[in-house]
Amino acid sequence: MNPRVEVLNGPNLNLLGVRQPHIYGYETLQDVERDCRHIGAELGLDIGFRQSNHESDLIDWIHAARGVAAGLVINPAAYTHTSVAIADALRAFEGPIIEVHISNIHQREAFRHHSYVSSVAQAVICGCGVLGYQLALRRLAQVVTGSGQIGGRASP
Ligand code: DQA
Repeated sequence: MNPRVEVLNGPNLNLLGVRQPHIYGYETLQDVERDCRHIGAELGLDIGFRQSNHESDLIDWIHAARGVAAGLVINPAAYTHTSVAIADALRAFEGPIIEVHISNIHQREAFRHHSYVSSVAQAVICGCGVLGYQLALRRLAQVVTGSGQIGGRASP
């Protein structure tokens, strides 16, 4: 059985492609889901893909991933900057977590510079557009199969 990875998306990401395309681009969330499933098949990962505008849905999905998913990719969107509750839920997840932001949050308004999630995440990818989701899945595939530990010995 393939390891399962949940890809979770927070508020307003359902409007990807039409909302502030100069910042988030023209690809839709359906395009992102298709790409994630495609790359998941290539990497031998089973992909769950969800989006909600409600904080409690995201928390419930993180809880449901415990003991089931090998890893999580999460773009908490605006909850990144506000939600201690999502960060606490992520702390209760046993596996690796990669935080993704489509835009470079550090280049934007000051209130976007702080993330409650980053301290719980093994890696943070931001500013790579929707490609960030694929990069996160590639990294998780390495991590869950134990083939890409940071600090591992370089091959001779
Ligand atoms: C975002 C960045 C957040 O600051 C913002 O609230 C979002 C999307 C991103 O993917 O760049 O909704 O997470």
